[in-house]
Amino acid sequence: MKALVLDPAFGLDNLRVVEHPDPAPGPGQVLVRVRAASLNYRDLLIAKGQYNPKLAFPRVLGSDAAGEVAAVGAGVTAWKPGDRVAGCFMQHWDDGPITDAAAKSTLGSDRDGALAELIVLEARGLVRLPDHLSDEEAATLPCAAVTAWNALTAAGVGPGGTVLLQGTGGVSIFALQLAKALGARVLITSGSDEKLARALALGADAGTNYKTNPDWEKWARQQTGGAGVDVVIEVGGPGTLDRSLKAVKTGGHVALIGVLAGAGTVNPLLVLMKAVRLQGVFVGSRAMFEAMNAVIGAKHLRPVIDRTFALSDAVAAFRHLESAAHFGKVVVKM
Ligand SMILES: NC(=O)c1ccc[n+]([C@@H]2O[C@H](COP(=O)([O-])OP(=O)(O)OC[C@H]3O[C@@H](n4cnc5c(N)ncnc54)[C@H](OP(=O)(O)O)[C@@H]3O)[C@@H](O)[C@H]2O)c1
Repeated sequence: MKALVLDPAFGLDNLRVVEHPDPAPGPGQVLVRVRAASLNYRDLLIAKGQYNPKLAFPRVLGSDAAGEVAAVGAGVTAWKPGDRVAGCFMQHWDDGPITDAAAKSTLGSDRDGALAELIVLEARGLVRLPDHLSDEEAATLPCAAVTAWNALTAAGVGPGGTVLLQGTGGVSIFALQLAKALGARVLITSGSDEKLARALALGADAGTNYKTNPDWEKWARQQTGGAGVDVVIEVGGPGTLDRSLKAVKTGGHVALIGVLAGAGTVNPLLVLMKAVRLQGVFVGSRAMFEAMNAVIGAKHLRPVIDRTFALSDAVAAFRHLESAAHFGKVVVKM
């Protein structure tokens, strides 16, 4: 089979689409013919050596796969050839709180990932696809959408609440769609006026450009009559966290997810003086994925795909993600 492999060392120049041995399912496992995969900022960090310094080479990258079951291993009764499925980001997180074992079962880092024509997944590490989604659309869900869902539901987002989102990448655009589906008001920032217009067209209630308006935390407070937002979906990391803590209301919730904005200083006094709940989010469980898919199915939500590349062009897809020119998700079709 063909696969996008990182070998023999870190660096985007070491990414290649090559012939790789076909994997075979063991007991309790399923062989999936991947139809589409999507890229995440994490995949870029992994390729550059900024995520898992102990990565084993050669490694097939990719966190998100959608396709159909090609064969099942011994003892598997829940799945049959032809079932349309997506892989869970963590192969060993069924439900309940995250465990150390779950956190070490991620695709494209702890084990071979999604950017391949075939992938072996655990029978417990699969979900059924919402019927109305294409393979490309479904391939966007496992990492970015589940992360957004976990963050929003853990924060108790619902009608009457205001959520602040940062930028228009994969996690933030899913957070926009899902927060609106949950009935919340959505504020969003972007470094591009054109992307802000697209976010408003998708349902965001207000937006501001963080490049021309670097004091976006003041803007967010103004949008809430000075009180501050209920929830921040924090994808910037240390470079934005201080402003997020100023934007959130007293007693509000900040979901710590990403590292897009680089270094910065954070004043922990704001966390305690405002009694902010700071919640780390690491994607989510299979149960969360299934609950999210039920809402996506009921509301007929459609993921936003920026661009689709062929597997033979997967390195160009990484470069496109790196450019941050995208809005929503970048997909690779097998
Ligand atoms: N903890 C987890 O479980 C988890 C899961 C998924 C992702 N993540 C992390 O979450 C982050 C987002 O991931 P992703 O896959 O959605 O990334 P992505 O699609 O690559 O997002 C890129 C976008 O982020 C925006 N951005 C960049 N710098 C920014 C800044 N300083 N302030 C605000 N927005 C900025 C830009 O949007 P504009 O062009 O609109 O400005 C850019 O296009 C990454 O750090 C990733 O590692 C964590």
